[in-house]
Amino acid sequence: MVPNNTHFDTTRANVEFVGAEAVDLVIAEGRQPSLKHPFKGNMDVAALESLIEKVGRERVPLVMLTVTNNSGGGQPVSMENVKAISAVCRKHRIPLYFDACRFAENSYFIKIREQGYEHKSPKEIAQEMFSYGDGCTMSAKKDGMANIGGFLCTNDDLLAQQEKNLLILTEGYPTYGGLAGRDLEAIAVGLQEALHQDYLEYRIASTAYLGNHIADQGVPIVQPPGGHAVYIDARAFLPHIPPDRFPAVALANELYLEGGIRSVEIGTLMFGASATMDLVRLAIPRRVYTQSHIDFVVEIILEVWKKREQIQGMKLTYEAPFLRHFTAKLEPEPAEATAALRS
Ligand SMILES: Cc1ncc(COP(=O)(O)O)c(C=O)c1O
Repeated sequence: MVPNNTHFDTTRANVEFVGAEAVDLVIAEGRQPSLKHPFKGNMDVAALESLIEKVGRERVPLVMLTVTNNSGGGQPVSMENVKAISAVCRKHRIPLYFDACRFAENSYFIKIREQGYEHKSPKEIAQEMFSYGDGCTMSAKKDGMANIGGFLCTNDDLLAQQEKNLLILTEGYPTYGGLAGRDLEAIAVGLQEALHQDYLEYRIASTAYLGNHIADQGVPIVQPPGGHAVYIDARAFLPHIPPDRFPAVALANELYLEGGIRSVEIGTLMFGASATMDLVRLAIPRRVYTQSHIDFVVEIILEVWKKREQIQGMKLTYEAPFLRHFTAKLEPEPAEATAALRS
């Protein structure tokens, strides 16, 4: 069993692919889109304790914390929570790994929202956070500011050696394998730049600008807006479409047809019937958009909001045996079918 606050889809699939069970233990507040809470990405410490007690530490090879919590609305994890989770892990001698894609944004949220960190730099906060863990996975396309690549870290030298040996078999030697030297160097620079305070301030402010402008007009979003993305609550946006008719897919399609906006469903298509929310993620690439781009996105969402009652549910016509959302094919249901479901 691998506990996480919320597993990212491919992380969950990798855990399940090797025969383990991926368990999401985000706090209850993190499952309610409209509820405001400064650290909705926190893990439920008591739930982690009771899971370990119930199944035994031998069945929990590691605990993961996703910072920020992408599938849960891009919400941050507090330092207090990191410390508490780390203490539980150390007590049971279970390694704690961060899914660290957005470690810099998470650090900035700690700086502006958690008492005692207001005078610390994002880098100092990141260093403190990592000091409580044993390793991390990192997709450097996010807070690594790189075009491609990522890495795996561990503080266990023996494990590192075993991982490097496996890597030679599957990818290549660490200095020239899957990642070219120039990409490794881009990551080395990107990791530093992602921690610049002025950059982080602008980034978090522009995400909040988009979220607040649509929320002010009544569009239901995960509150407060996340770090890298705004998440529209598609169940609340399209209450006439039940989860098994994929409201977030229907809404994502509509945004694309209306204004060429590319978003993604995080919901029932991605996670199946166990999905607790159906969200449309509007992820904002770093250092790409100007204010007028974001204003255009606001305008399109509000246009779609006005005609929301006409949007129809979707029907699956093809699905792969796992990670089905990557290649699924769907078609809109006839309007009468959506109306019948509603009544
Ligand atoms: C939290 C999280 N973990 C893992 C990944 C996977 O990254 P990659 O696609 O580079 O493997 C992502 C990608 O969006 C992510 O957001």
